[in-house]
Amino acid sequence: MFAKVSSLGLFGLNAFPVDVEINLSKGLPRFEIVGLADAAVQESRERIKAALYTCGIVFPSSNCIVNLAPADKRKNGSMHDLAIFMAILAALGRVQVPEDAAIIGEVSLNGDVRPVNGVLPMTLTAKKRGIRTMYVPMDNAKEAAVVDGMTVYGVPDAKALLSHLEGDTPLQPMQHIGLEQVAAPQIPDFSDVHGQNAAKHALEIAAAGGHNALLIGPPGSGKSMLAKRMPGILPPLTFEESIETTMIHSVAGLLDAAHPLVTVRPFRSPHHTISTAGLAGGGTVPHPGEISLAHNGLLFLDELAEFDRRTLEILRQPLEDREVTISRAAGTIRYPCSIMLIAAMNPCPCGYLGHPTRPCTCGQRAAAQYLNRISGPLLDRFDLHIEAAPVTFDDLSSQKPEESSAEIRKRVIAAREIQNQRFKDTKITCNARITPDKLAKFCPLTDQAKARLKAVFEKMGLSARAYDRLLKVARTVADMQQSEVIEAQHIAEAVQYRTLDRKYWQVGSADSR
Ligand SMILES: Nc1ncnc2c1ncn2[C@@H]1O[C@H](COP(=O)(O)OP(=O)(O)OP(=O)(O)O)[C@@H](O)[C@H]1O
Ligand SMILES: [Mg+2]
Repeated sequence: MFAKVSSLGLFGLNAFPVDVEINLSKGLPRFEIVGLADAAVQESRERIKAALYTCGIVFPSSNCIVNLAPADKRKNGSMHDLAIFMAILAALGRVQVPEDAAIIGEVSLNGDVRPVNGVLPMTLTAKKRGIRTMYVPMDNAKEAAVVDGMTVYGVPDAKALLSHLEGDTPLQPMQHIGLEQVAAPQIPDFSDVHGQNAAKHALEIAAAGGHNALLIGPPGSGKSMLAKRMPGILPPLTFEESIETTMIHSVAGLLDAAHPLVTVRPFRSPHHTISTAGLAGGGTVPHPGEISLAHNGLLFLDELAEFDRRTLEILRQPLEDREVTISRAAGTIRYPCSIMLIAAMNPCPCGYLGHPTRPCTCGQRAAAQYLNRISGPLLDRFDLHIEAAPVTFDDLSSQKPEESSAEIRKRVIAAREIQNQRFKDTKITCNARITPDKLAKFCPLTDQAKARLKAVFEKMGLSARAYDRLLKVARTVADMQQSEVIEAQHIAEAVQYRTLDRKYWQVGSADSR
């Protein structure tokens, strides 16, 4: 007896269709799974036997061969359990699984169906391949229901699916879920931060143009506080961006029934003890790293100088390419990581280097060593260097209401609308992503601006990358003032945000020589 049931497999973010074929024939009783199945798939034999038993079904005492086709693609994980379970019942003639239906899910020993990772990319692929009905674990049902035009059934346990397919107790399909139906998480508000107007303005520019920013300042000046409020002023996610980010979170197993869809730009804030694989992605079965989990959102590296230097250096290439490539024997996986990088640090181990009133107790050498943990090339990738000055008593005790995130966000969105218009026929999404070949076209300068830029370039000894980035920040400053052409004052403001490396790092390098 032969039966075939559709399922799906996953490699990185790429899902692929898997046909679970089963053949029951006379012969010595055995149960084999073939088709490049890894250890987790092989172990499904035991889970399925036990689950059949708890459903009151005797495992056929015949020669049972399961083939996971295509046989040349490696299958890993437990997501095929439920499909194999149903294929056995189909081969026994108990049920008929519709041809345009696919089944995914892990089966536990008592027949419960447990959630699996990557249901969203699998459902999207299923839709492209003409599948119209998905049977997925109950905990993943909302995630699958994000895909429009699919009938999604959440399966609590194997018995419930059996009863549904036999026509006894039908399961209820899950309603389609749109962006607006998912509750937005609570984000702290900028109005909590007293003073720090210059830093707030710089962060507004960063949000408006999608620029990377580095906050430097003494302890307790509000650097972490400011960075954590950034998601509240970023522009809303588009539906496509939401799906892209949700796919990565789905593969990483971060979604749950309450949050089946990523609806606000992610804010990832890994601890500085994070490993290279944790930050950039990796592992035997390569999982996405924090940089990819922050895709279309913000990666916040607090206490930047405390991170392992080699771990930080790993970020350099993905920050430019906007994707992480991980190669394994089974193939190459690409995880996108189009992020805004925000980092915060103290200027020295004691934190008071350059403080207006408190002396630094580190000594120049220790301060230099501390700053040198951040390499020049990494520093070069920050478009804005923002000084968080110590908060004054007057600011802290002031009763004056501070501007809210919602008000700042309005200006950010207005600046993004100008950018959307400008880039509408290109793949560029914001000023920070302008490609070098388009720089001249999208960043027209007045003669004075050109002269100012030339003077700055020569005086500051800028790298070509720093020049590009400075121009892009000036583009954003001009957009915020609704100016189509970049003027000298816009260049001057952008230059202001590239001076902290000179203030701190040059002290360091002079001493370390
Ligand atoms: N500008 C501010 N307005 C109101 N409260 C502030 C401000 N700055 C700091 N605080 C208070 O100080 C606390 C510490 O701030 P925060 O953690 O952001 O400092 P930090 O600059 O990150 O310090 P560190 O360098 O030690 O990490 C905040 O939780 C907040 O209560
Ligand atoms: Mg902090």
